[in-house]
Amino acid sequence: MMADKIMTEFNRSNWARPEFVRQYRDNADIYIVERRRMIGITKSFYKHFLSVRKENNILDLGCGDGIITHKLLEIDESMTATLIDGSEDMLNKAKERLQGYDNVNFIKASFQNVIEKGLPARDYDFTVSSMAIHHLAMNDKRELFRLIHSRLNTGGYFMNIDVLLAPSEALDNWYMKIWEEWMDDKRAELGALDEPSADVIRRYKDAEENKPDTLDSQLNALRDIGFKDADCFYKYGIFAIYGGKKQDKAEKGKTNESV
Ligand SMILES: C[S@@+](CC[C@H](N)C(=O)[O-])C[C@H]1O[C@@H](n2cnc3c(N)ncnc32)[C@H](O)[C@@H]1O
Repeated sequence: MMADKIMTEFNRSNWARPEFVRQYRDNADIYIVERRRMIGITKSFYKHFLSVRKENNILDLGCGDGIITHKLLEIDESMTATLIDGSEDMLNKAKERLQGYDNVNFIKASFQNVIEKGLPARDYDFTVSSMAIHHLAMNDKRELFRLIHSRLNTGGYFMNIDVLLAPSEALDNWYMKIWEEWMDDKRAELGALDEPSADVIRRYKDAEENKPDTLDSQLNALRDIGFKDADCFYKYGIFAIYGGKKQDKAEKGKTNESV
């Protein structure tokens, strides 16, 4: 009964519509500012902080067609990956994309479902999410961050690539302008995308399922929960990468000043 109610919330969103999913997959490199760069930064982060260990367990929340896990598997085939998404269509695309890899598991669940019922019984070394957590209101984001933290191995990391709420209208106006310019430039370079860039932005703003929050509120939530080194790793307008580390016990009590 509860599961039905929880899944219904996801089913009301555009992501439950196959046509919307197809449109996103066809145009993601145009819609998302510096998407390739953000994926590059994710790989660099993984190589720097995680690839020193082997056989990492990674979790990809809102995996879509599996692009992020795929890029990580290209640099570390030893990992075991769990991919979660509410959309059957997206999971099918992810299964297709990752069919050459053995240690991948796919779970169909909404974030609301995950918050309610918990994550699969396994701890993770790296939890990553891309362009998905902004679909949760701040309270649910906080609950998800808490759950992510509780299920990270000590020394493990969380990274979120996502859209943010600008802290003021003046900044929002500029961020929307640079987003529009990005889409116009990309369209000239890659072709496709018949829809005017201004309409894409209007659609994003109007959709009830988009619930971005400010960078400050999300970093503060991570710090309150206990993440160490919570920081913004990259930002361009409303597009950003932020995250943090689950502190090793030995690190507790140490500050930058005392190191
Ligand atoms: C913009 S796509 C991003 C996909 C992929 N991570 C990427 O970077 O290309 C957002 C993904 O989040 C999923 N999603 C949206 N809301 C969700 C929710 N409440 N629970 C679980 N998945 C959700 C959608 O089905 C979709 O696959």
